Amino acid sequence: MKEMIEQRRSVNYFDPEFEMTKAEVKEVIDLAATAPSTMNLQPWETAVVMSAEMKEKLRSVSFDQPKVEEAAAVIVIIADTKGFARTNEAVFESNIELGYMTEEVAATYKKNAGKMFGDPESEAVKKWALINSSLFAMNLMHSASALGFDSHPMGGFNEKEVKKLLNIDEVKLIPLFVCLGKKREEKKLLKRAFRFKSEDFSIFF
Ligand SMILES: Cc1cc2nc3c(=O)[nH]c(=O)nc-3n(C[C@H](O)[C@H](O)[C@H](O)COP(=O)(O)O)c2cc1C
Repeated sequence: MKEMIEQRRSVNYFDPEFEMTKAEVKEVIDLAATAPSTMNLQPWETAVVMSAEMKEKLRSVSFDQPKVEEAAAVIVIIADTKGFARTNEAVFESNIELGYMTEEVAATYKKNAGKMFGDPESEAVKKWALINSSLFAMNLMHSASALGFDSHPMGGFNEKEVKKLLNIDEVKLIPLFVCLGKKREEKKLLKRAFRFKSEDFSIFF
């Protein structure tokens, strides 16, 4: 695990010949969905771009970054500000089924969570959706490594245009894409870029 984390890199050069099956991409996404989230409400969605035609269009709204076309799949991470409405029923139902809480307690939790996370326009909900979907995205990169694939996070795109292209609700946010595939064998990665050390950015109390 330590090695896997140390060896994960942003792979700029994907092998354009390397393809992933839908089942392989789903396996990476399902593993990533073990990510933790506030009250387990999982306010993330993915738009999975695998067809050559759609990758080409997506590249044109992503500052022409070649990896969008060269990767086997581009996972557009969506911070679902409407996530509470989509997930709460199933999450609290399962809490009851799993014996985590009684129906009464679940109803109280649900009511309180609805107050906190129910308004997709609020700043608090945007923050909530961004925090949780970003944790999901990091887990997606590690899931890809665990399953033998390479990945690359990307923030360089025109969010408005991406939403238009993929028919994503205006109120939702796109923190990043994660490209998946295999590094071109002949390409050598630069050495791991500089990182600050804990003593540079941590305060211990
Ligand atoms: C949110 C986010 C956005 C990024 N956007 C881009 C991007 O648009 N294009 C790109 O080439 N790299 C992008 N990167 C990759 C970083 O440059 C890379 O992770 C960093 O240089 C460290 O390299 P490493 O991941 O190999 O250690 C992004 C990374 C993150 C986390």
